[in-house]
Amino acid sequence: GNPVSFFEQVGGEETFHRVVARFYQEVKADEILLPLYPEEDLGPAEERLRLFLMQYWGGPHTYSDNRGHPRLRMRHVPFKIGPIERDAWLRCMRIAVDEAGLDEAHRKQLWDYMEMAANSLMNSLS
Ligand code: HEM
Repeated sequence: GNPVSFFEQVGGEETFHRVVARFYQEVKADEILLPLYPEEDLGPAEERLRLFLMQYWGGPHTYSDNRGHPRLRMRHVPFKIGPIERDAWLRCMRIAVDEAGLDEAHRKQLWDYMEMAANSLMNSLS
């Protein structure tokens, strides 16, 4: 039968909710990332990242039902993402992933993806 998805293996929506909420708690206090956000209310951005990650890891497709094809590179074009922004994003995400209570194999798989994805969304050399 179908292999159990990573989404299910790590605890489903509850886990992704926890990770992304912790990430945004850090973003709110980050002087590099916070000014990039067009809206003062980070709630909708938090929901979009949570739904995207859930879908990516084999959970429900609510993200694309709401937003269409992810096209993440295109959606990040309005924001200058150089090494400083990438590092700030990863610093926040590292805390969130490390505190999620995953076993080491799952933690590493999630973290390796975050590093790869953050590198792939850079659109500035400075
Ligand atoms: C949206 C910044 C990396 C996934 C956004 C937004 C900003 C932003 C400012 C707009 C907030 C909003 O949705 O209202 C950054 C920066 C990054 C980064 C500075 C540093 C590398 C990533 C990565 C992922 C990601 C690695 C995925 C793993 C998303 C998603 C959205 C989003 C799904 C919402 C797209 C939509 O449906 O409109 N990002 N991001 N971002 N970001 Fe990032």
